[in-house]
Amino acid sequence: MSNTLHVINTTFKNDVCKGLSATHKYLDSKYFYDEIGDDLFIQIMNMPEYYLTRAEFDIFKHKTRHLIQALGVHPETHFDVIELGAGDGTKTKALLEVLHHTNFKFSYLPVDISANALSILKHNITMALPEVSIYPQEGDYFNILKDIKRTKTPKVVLFLGSNIGNLTDLEAKGFISKLSAALNPKDKVILGTDLIKSKSIVLPAYSDAAGITKQFNLNILHRINKELQGNFNIDAFVHEAEYTEEEGIAKSFLKSTKTQSVYVEALEKAFHFNKGERIHTEISRKYNDTILAEILEGSSLKITDKLTDSNGVFADYILEKV
Ligand code: AVI
Repeated sequence: MSNTLHVINTTFKNDVCKGLSATHKYLDSKYFYDEIGDDLFIQIMNMPEYYLTRAEFDIFKHKTRHLIQALGVHPETHFDVIELGAGDGTKTKALLEVLHHTNFKFSYLPVDISANALSILKHNITMALPEVSIYPQEGDYFNILKDIKRTKTPKVVLFLGSNIGNLTDLEAKGFISKLSAALNPKDKVILGTDLIKSKSIVLPAYSDAAGITKQFNLNILHRINKELQGNFNIDAFVHEAEYTEEEGIAKSFLKSTKTQSVYVEALEKAFHFNKGERIHTEISRKYNDTILAEILEGSSLKITDKLTDSNGVFADYILEKV
């Protein structure tokens, strides 16, 4: 062990150990996101190939009236707009602007585990809409929702950007059942999902020409090197993305370009890689009505509306707790 004092994230350490010891190596995509990963993801959202963010913004900007109508909110009744994993709030700002200018009474509660992300968001929204009440909530989505449930204030929960797509179908079912349990009857959800479409559109979004997604994917190895004192030779791994329209799931991998061993000091363990062996790092599930219906089956969240962008590539589903 080196003498340097390292503060180690135990969950990260255990997950890396488990994932790299598996027969089919894997790492969880949630570990892409440190400060560098957050910054790379902002660059991804602005890439010409990454249509998802622009498509959802198109819905929020150009179908705002339809969206508000679908939420069934009343101008006389105060409600909470709760955004899970709020990001920079660009899309939500478009909705809040119209709600505010049409005299709806509401508070905006962005929820995120990153205090830094919340403070940037609060600044952005306050600059644009100084009169809107904003109460950032730092922490785990479901702990916060549990607290919020205690009030009978009607709620609109936003889970945008195809974030649900980074969950397996089983995880998505678990997420929906916890979300549903945290809501009161008539509360609404806006669920942003990328739609199943041809490989020629989806694959470039996950393997861009400028190589930003490659850097994003490799950031997980940089994090292991930095935080767990690994010795990954980053140049000996390449980014690979796969997608078939039949399956509807984009998958990302890091492929070892040679036979090599990697030592992770915090784990006191070496991991062997054959030439061509891959670490599965992410899934991005694409949806259609049937798949979402299967995910919602058995929960008390029902689809009441669906709004798509002008190119029909992305959908915001409106769900109601019954
Ligand atoms: C955050 N999430 C919805 C992105 C996606 O499209 O799955 C993450 C991402 N991975 C590669 N590019 C973008």
